[in-house]
Amino acid sequence: MLHLLHPPTVHFAVAFLVLGGLCEAWGILGGNDRYERFGGVLVLIGTVCLILTVATGLLAAKVAALPDGVSDDLTLHERIGYAILGLFGLCAFAKAWVGGTLKGRARTIYAVALLVGVGLVIFGAFQGGHLVYQHGVGVAP
Ligand code: HEM
Repeated sequence: MLHLLHPPTVHFAVAFLVLGGLCEAWGILGGNDRYERFGGVLVLIGTVCLILTVATGLLAAKVAALPDGVSDDLTLHERIGYAILGLFGLCAFAKAWVGGTLKGRARTIYAVALLVGVGLVIFGAFQGGHLVYQHGVGVAP
């Protein structure tokens, strides 16, 4: 039953991480505090949603009926999911480690990591949609 929650949870993760990641990176690189703080909160919420997304995705992958020839696509989707979780998890850990405010060059690296993360989220979501709407993974024939 919980595997059915992957499609609903993924929308929250995508929305919060894409909007939040862009806002926070824009705030850091453009020197705008308000964007940075607003984006930071969204990214944090998105990271929590991401944990649920990956957990429900793993459940869905266990029970979903797989049409022939899609296991490579599903493996790629799963790996992208781990990469996204690793990247945003590392970002959250780095910020928590320094008490919430990165300084100097670490700020720029963090902002670039956020932009890479946003790109990965968009690619992962596109690829997930491809699994369902192109190959029919998890939907009745
Ligand atoms: C290890 C992690 C993941 C696994 C094993 C996984 C697995 C799956 C599976 C099996 C489906 C087919 C539909 C279903 O049965 O629910 C799916 C769909 C999808 N996945 Fe993932 N997923 C993972 C992480 C992610 C992440 C991090 C994202 C966001 C970037 C994502 C985005 C999507 C999207 C957008 C769909 C299509 C949903 C729909 O509209 O029906 N997945 N995923």
